[in-house]
Amino acid sequence: MIIQQPFTIAIQRRGKLRDDSEATLQLANITLEEDVLRSECENTGVRILYVRDDDIPEYVRQGVADFGIVGENVIAECGIALRIVQKLSFGNCRLVIAVPETSTIQSIQDLAGERIATSYPNLLRMFLQEQGIQASIIEITGSVEVAPELNLADAICDLTQSGATLKEHNLRELVTLYSSEAVLVSNPTLPVEQFITL
Ligand code: PRP
Ligand code: ZN
Repeated sequence: MIIQQPFTIAIQRRGKLRDDSEATLQLANITLEEDVLRSECENTGVRILYVRDDDIPEYVRQGVADFGIVGENVIAECGIALRIVQKLSFGNCRLVIAVPETSTIQSIQDLAGERIATSYPNLLRMFLQEQGIQASIIEITGSVEVAPELNLADAICDLTQSGATLKEHNLRELVTLYSSEAVLVSNPTLPVEQFITL
């Protein structure tokens, strides 16, 4: 990426995308600061906002940030129309439905009438509709993988990357709903080529 004129970019403050987002920006000579909410890079004049990944689409939609780096899964879930400027080949993960190892649920059809905990209610709802399955969606914002242990749900719909979290909680994958990677996004009205050359 070559910078034509300074812009504001929103990236994840803490989490799986942070390090690779930073590395991507460093390739364009943009340096980052630790433990701040925003900073301005001396080399390039680029302003960086460090925010929750789930909030990045809204920042870009509002024009508070010109660009953002976020998972495709987050964009798909929130339904905000953004331009995908570039796929970034990191942050690869899958949204899956998983059930306890010991569960009698063996197929997608077996989910009928069951409770599924998720932070991705919209993607899950679409999937269940496509499959013609009626199940209850239990919407929670975090630690979804413990929901079956707590008897809050019979299944979960959550992201998996290495598979470690599912394994730790004795959960087995039933089906993949969505495959995702990190992408550089902009507001559809932004004249991208005035700011960067890929
Ligand atoms: C995701 C997801 C799982 C974990 C899966 O959370 O909710 O907990 O990563 O990764 P694994 O298969 O490598 O164990 P994330 O860290 O992205 O946090 P967030 O959902 O709060 O953004
Ligand atoms: Zn998140």
